[in-house]
Amino acid sequence: MLSVNDLSFSFKKNVIFDQVSFSINDGELVGLVAPNGTGKTTLLKLLCGLLPTAATTLTLNGIHLYQHRTAYLRQLFFLENSNQLYADLTVADHLTYVRSMWHSAVDIAGVVDSLGMAGYYRKKIKTLSLGMKQHVLLAMYLVSDAQTLLIDEPLNGLDPTSIQQFERVFLALKQQGKSMLISSHQMDSVGRVSDRVFFLQNQTIVPIENTGQDMLAVYNTMYLKAGEQHARSV
Ligand SMILES: Nc1ncnc2c1ncn2[C@@H]1O[C@H](COP(=O)(O)OP(=O)(O)OP(=O)(O)O)[C@@H](O)[C@H]1O
Ligand SMILES: [Mg+2]
Repeated sequence: MLSVNDLSFSFKKNVIFDQVSFSINDGELVGLVAPNGTGKTTLLKLLCGLLPTAATTLTLNGIHLYQHRTAYLRQLFFLENSNQLYADLTVADHLTYVRSMWHSAVDIAGVVDSLGMAGYYRKKIKTLSLGMKQHVLLAMYLVSDAQTLLIDEPLNGLDPTSIQQFERVFLALKQQGKSMLISSHQMDSVGRVSDRVFFLQNQTIVPIENTGQDMLAVYNTMYLKAGEQHARSV
């Protein structure tokens, strides 16, 4: 379980989070939703120590980030986007590296087959399309076998078949007991896979239980209303 206690963060005078607390259970998939520039990527970076938090803010399965950084980080996987991949290394290089660093026993060939990546497993990253690189990122998450998966807009650039394939993978990971926080602007997809959705608003998180409601309607109510209020106040 990931526990977040009193998380506050600013980029200079730009307050992004103000005393936010939440937890994500084992086997729970939480969608992370907000308009561009609100703080989704910032939150994911904070949760894995890429941006500073107070010493007592983050606990993952009982381990504090600041007390046992390596042990904390080995339990999670996060790679912001495919720009972070090494252009001159192959897909195989990336997956072998992750398997070794995360001390994982996952069968790389099985992951590559299941994601339909056999045709470009030996190719360098710089020769791949955006959608192929998104598959490489997902394969890295699977190969890490980390308990907690923080995923930033994994559906970007995917064709409809691949979107459905990724959704099936997310649901399977949930069955395995992984804790997942996945940001997305695809509200229909968020509605299909999430147990809860964290909407970011006013420097905090508004958690909504997924009861099968139309998530785009929830989004519009939350943000269009805020936009209208803003328009009225100026
Ligand atoms: N390194 C940085 N230095 C200063 N400000 C930053 C930095 N990174 C992000 N910000 C600011 O923090 C806010 C949140 O940015 P963030 O990237 O977390 O948004 P996001 O919700 O992920 O948006 P998007 O949907 O466009 O990916 C924005 O106002 C952004 O300008
Ligand atoms: Mg972002």
